[in-house]
Amino acid sequence: MFKDPVLASNWQPVAYSHELTEKPMPVVLLEERIVLFRTSKGINVFKDLCIHRGAALSLGKVENDCLVCPYHGWEYETDGKCVKIPQQPASRAIPLKAKAVVYQATEKYGLIWVKLIKDQSDSKDTFFEYAEFSDPSFKTVFANPHTFNAAAPRVVENFLDVSHLAFVHEGSLGDSNHAEIPDYKVHWKENRYVSDEIPVYADADGTGNYTTLHYTFEILAPTAARLKKVNYENGEIFAMLFTVLPQEERKSTVFALVSRNYAFDTPDQYFTDFQQLIIEQDTAIVESQKPEELPLDLQAELHLIPDRVSIAYRTWLGKLGVTFGSEVKKKKEVTY
Ligand code: FES
Ligand code: FE
Repeated sequence: MFKDPVLASNWQPVAYSHELTEKPMPVVLLEERIVLFRTSKGINVFKDLCIHRGAALSLGKVENDCLVCPYHGWEYETDGKCVKIPQQPASRAIPLKAKAVVYQATEKYGLIWVKLIKDQSDSKDTFFEYAEFSDPSFKTVFANPHTFNAAAPRVVENFLDVSHLAFVHEGSLGDSNHAEIPDYKVHWKENRYVSDEIPVYADADGTGNYTTLHYTFEILAPTAARLKKVNYENGEIFAMLFTVLPQEERKSTVFALVSRNYAFDTPDQYFTDFQQLIIEQDTAIVESQKPEELPLDLQAELHLIPDRVSIAYRTWLGKLGVTFGSEVKKKKEVTY
């Protein structure tokens, strides 16, 4: 059984597509060791364990579209079936139990996504929208993967927290002399939460141009969110898809797509460097938060009107029943 059946049945980001070469790549997802590898048929994901003697398949190699175990050379096809055991004559049958555990994987928005619990229904997978990725009027860059020693819900909530910009990112994104956040609301739309446009005195991308930007936050999934910042004075839009790989209860890796409809001549490196600076500013704060798991009981911490996006996020996680990296309402002890 997986640590969190809700997160295990949702697509989770595990790597950028461009990071996976012909070399098998080990990843930890919800405390489960998995291995990603590429064949001529596409992306494949197995449990990172050989059934023979438990060696990590990620130490092996891909040959003839098979994953070859590094220990005794057993070869597994992409459907998980072992098709070669070099120690026995080819005429001898391969035990039926000689199989690797296969997980569902797909590629979308330049990322590899994995579902540990297979979708039983035939219904077409509905993936959340990030239209900027394929919109030619935007240029998108991939931020460097960044690991936090913190729970995934804490990391996602930090991204959704509009109030910290003026302090944690003062001089990069925000200004502490303009910390007030106008009241706004959050709405459920079809399959996600969307905030009103929030006017924030901010710098979109670290160029030093402070003005009023209109922020819209969307909570797309337990481990995915997006942000759009619009400058109505010049029509510039900055958007971001922020996704988090929940590795361990208190260890998570962020993959983020940063999109802009302006400054196409500015080298992409500028935007990846800027995003790196921002996420490093967040790291010390998020890793300092107690309790380490996000409290879903709304009585557990103090909430203000500007925290409405966080309130929606906590409420949704509670409704979905996410427990990994979150702290569900503690039951009152009953004494007789
Ligand atoms: Fe994999 Fe023996 S442990 S082939
Ligand atoms: Fe931040």
